[in-house]
Amino acid sequence: MTGLLEIRGLTIDIARDNGPARVVDGIDLTVNEGESLGIVGESGCGKSLTMMSLVGLLPNRIRATGGTARFGGRDLLKLSGRELRRVRGSEIGFIFQDPMTSLNPVIRVGDQIAEALVYQKGMAKPQARARAVELLALVGIPAPEERANAWPHELSGGMRQRVMIAMGLAGSPKLLIADEPTTALDVTIQAQIVDLVRELKDRLKMSVVWITHDLALIAGLADRIAVLYAGTVVEDAPVAAIFDRPTHPYTRALLGSLPTLAGEAMSRLPSIQGTPPEPGRRPPGCPFAPRCGLARASCSETVPRLAALPGDAGHRVACPVALEGAI
Ligand SMILES: Nc1ncnc2c1ncn2[C@@H]1O[C@H](COP(=O)(O)OP(=O)(O)OP(=O)(O)O)[C@@H](O)[C@H]1O
Ligand SMILES: [Mg+2]
Repeated sequence: MTGLLEIRGLTIDIARDNGPARVVDGIDLTVNEGESLGIVGESGCGKSLTMMSLVGLLPNRIRATGGTARFGGRDLLKLSGRELRRVRGSEIGFIFQDPMTSLNPVIRVGDQIAEALVYQKGMAKPQARARAVELLALVGIPAPEERANAWPHELSGGMRQRVMIAMGLAGSPKLLIADEPTTALDVTIQAQIVDLVRELKDRLKMSVVWITHDLALIAGLADRIAVLYAGTVVEDAPVAAIFDRPTHPYTRALLGSLPTLAGEAMSRLPSIQGTPPEPGRRPPGCPFAPRCGLARASCSETVPRLAALPGDAGHRVACPVALEGAI
């Protein structure tokens, strides 16, 4: 497998009146071709900003200030606004959390997808319209010719999310990034959307990045999981290794407090005592040390780097204490 997307040392800062505050602090992530990577971590750890930085969608006053993001032979962080517009949609597709705010309520769903095709692919309108119907069928919307004429509010939440996926796929991207796309949906529909994306990933030979709070949901989709904490990757491993051999104290805390009864909803990440650091108020050393039961004095001095877990292929963890214990 080769790396389709390789993020190295990414830093993102928020400009504040009293100086920049760092929110993403040296993220390393790789997405291989045909692979699905799950990204988990508490609210505010920098999941969305990391993905937005790739395609030039960072909000005002927030900038990628360091690192590289290689994709298709280029560094995305160095592309101009015009080049990034071309990458968005046609090379990297996005699905966002809330279809009701992401879909335009006054444009029929088929027309919205067709517009994306005209814009991204330069298609003529009638062709774009026909392709929009095909895309609605591809994402499992029944009677797609009819549904293409529906307004967003006429569709159920699950159907709207399928429309969002169709829009994300409109440009035939090599990489689909889904940012908590199912949070607003009920559990059964969430599972259907996950199944759909897994099937589409194989059929269209795409890679997928799926951001979520929901470890159980992602287990059915991801080949690999990256656990983020306070703007850094603390553990990165094949999905089975994350569940069988969680090694970073933060990952263990996340998994240790998941209910184990079969069938019981393991929906949101459980709470761990304490709170993550505010942007710009990172403690020296390991950002998790103040909440960590295993922390030693040295943890507050040196920032831990991701290191390979010996004898466990592809499993990396940013915690010298846990590494020692695992050897
Ligand atoms: N527009 C903004 N202005 C100022 N701060 C922001 C803005 N967007 C995000 N942040 C801050 O940057 C940090 C990372 O935000 P990000 O949206 O990437 O988090 P996240 O991991 O996606 O969280 P969630 O799970 O809640 O979506 C947070 O502390 C957040 O408060
Ligand atoms: Mg987010």
